[in-house]
Amino acid sequence: MTDWNERYTRGDTPWEKGRAAPPLLELFSRTDPGLWGCGPILVPGCGTGHDVRALATLGLPILGLDLAEEAVSRADAYAKVAHETYAHGDFLDPLWRRGKSFSAIWEHTCYCAINPARRPDYAESCAELIQSGGHLIGVFYLTPNQPGEEHQGPPFNATIDELDARFSPWFTREDGWVPENSYPGREGQEWIGIYRRK
Ligand SMILES: C[S@@+](CC[C@H](N)C(=O)[O-])C[C@H]1O[C@@H](n2cnc3c(N)ncnc32)[C@H](O)[C@@H]1O
Repeated sequence: MTDWNERYTRGDTPWEKGRAAPPLLELFSRTDPGLWGCGPILVPGCGTGHDVRALATLGLPILGLDLAEEAVSRADAYAKVAHETYAHGDFLDPLWRRGKSFSAIWEHTCYCAINPARRPDYAESCAELIQSGGHLIGVFYLTPNQPGEEHQGPPFNATIDELDARFSPWFTREDGWVPENSYPGREGQEWIGIYRRK
């Protein structure tokens, strides 16, 4: 099992790019801000919070959540953009999600970081946390591993069919496309999916 906190303290964080995910900025330019609802928005596995700070420009309350205390404390040390906050916790823990409700979840490299055996728990968390009519909006890192090495990870591979099947009990997919903008090295390996909570 990955010790995420230890990876931050050791500096073994190849996912840390120092800026928000380019597909998130692409989403802002292609979609209506109303997509995100009235807030709050949750960013599970927020790392040091670059996406959280980009989302904060929407003016809605944003909560960045991470399992690694070190990531949360680094995220929290940045100057605040607007109404963003951070919490240390486990997105898959039913106790953490109890009583909480969000108009949207932004997914970026949390799904691929979680062991595939726990993906049903990830989907259940999304279903429980997102209000009816709200959205799960994500850039899913589909192919971090080469063919034949899919089970090496994290990160772990995913497919669009798997994602559609995974979320379909609770969500209807509204849109999906391969982003034109990615971090160098991830071009063509990511997919933006927009799912609406039934
Ligand atoms: C690959 S990193 C990506 C971080 C951030 N999204 C980014 O792109 O910089 C995966 C993150 O998910 C966090 N994480 C893994 N499992 C988690 C869980 N069950 N609940 C909350 N965070 C989790 C890790 O601590 C780590 O910060």
